[in-house]
Amino acid sequence: MKTTLLQINAEQPQADFIAQAAAIIRRGGLVAFPTETVYGLGADAMNEAAVQKIFQAKGRPSDNPLIVHVSSQAMLHRVAKEISAKAEALMEKFWPGPLTLVLQRREAVAPTVSAGLHTVAVRMPHHKIALALLEQAATPIAAPSANTSSRPSPTTAAHVLEDLHGRIEMILDGGPTNIGIESTVLDVTGDVPVMLRPGWVTPELLAEIVGDVQQAMAIDELKRSPGTRYRHYSPRARVVLLENAAPELLQQTCVELLKNERVGLISKTPVFIDDFRFTAILLADSAADYARRIYSAMRELDENQAAVIVIEGINATGVGAAVMDRLRRAASTIHS
Ligand code: TXA
Ligand code: MG
Repeated sequence: MKTTLLQINAEQPQADFIAQAAAIIRRGGLVAFPTETVYGLGADAMNEAAVQKIFQAKGRPSDNPLIVHVSSQAMLHRVAKEISAKAEALMEKFWPGPLTLVLQRREAVAPTVSAGLHTVAVRMPHHKIALALLEQAATPIAAPSANTSSRPSPTTAAHVLEDLHGRIEMILDGGPTNIGIESTVLDVTGDVPVMLRPGWVTPELLAEIVGDVQQAMAIDELKRSPGTRYRHYSPRARVVLLENAAPELLQQTCVELLKNERVGLISKTPVFIDDFRFTAILLADSAADYARRIYSAMRELDENQAAVIVIEGINATGVGAAVMDRLRRAASTIHS
């Protein structure tokens, strides 16, 4: 399959480009497009055959459900029902934006979208290209992150191309995404909302609107058998995460690993080691900078043939909690 890459203006998306992309969605094809979080791989959420193509292209396990993107309340009501007052209040406050709500699903949604569940995850993206595509296609669009399964999510069109070239019909290249990590996922089907995936919209922000939010992490840990942590968001190189390391330990760890292999480092503390097999990417000491650049830094170090990537953690508060969640899942070794 030929993959067409269209450079499209993120502020004023060209109508003819949007029309081409929407036509592909309408006839059951796949289009990657930018959102404010990461690039999504979109298909018509009401078309079962189209949705199945997403799983094939990504190599995604079929038991992992997809997020449905909508551009209006009318579109929301085509996919979800029995929407609670709390859910309404959250939409009012955070949509369009990086908050995904798990709601009761309507039958018309392609069953594979929800991987057999009675619920459906929905969000309204805060991005002109995504919204224009949804409006023109006039159908809800199911879109997971546009990476090969288990790889870091794509924050540029080049990342999408790297993973999915020849497997999808079109990529709308609207430049790098703003936020850089995936949306917060919140289950609002019960009385107390449950956080299924931390993201840009923090529990503190959610609590201002709906009061208590339950953390699924703990529940999740209980459900999982020990040692079967699901590796995710991972570069090809193995990841060593140093959660709270002193600068000397960061340096020492890299020096030690360099005895045997090429080493990449992603840190907020500058580390200088005079060795051509060492590449360091310095980020600002802020959760926002980590969120925006972490996936692309991992991919860059992969390109650099690093065998191991050492990552310096950040404070796990606010957006930092979402960043650290991704880093812990990517890591094969964690030093806390
Ligand atoms: O920022 C984002 O959310 C990006 C952009 C493209 O919108 N999308 C994204 O999709 O990250 P994906 O497929 O990579 O992650 C979807 C997450 C998964 O953790 C999945 O398990 C969860 O949402 N999910 C989807 N439907 C669900 C449901 N019915 N119940 C519980 N979790 C659900
Ligand atoms: Mg994903």
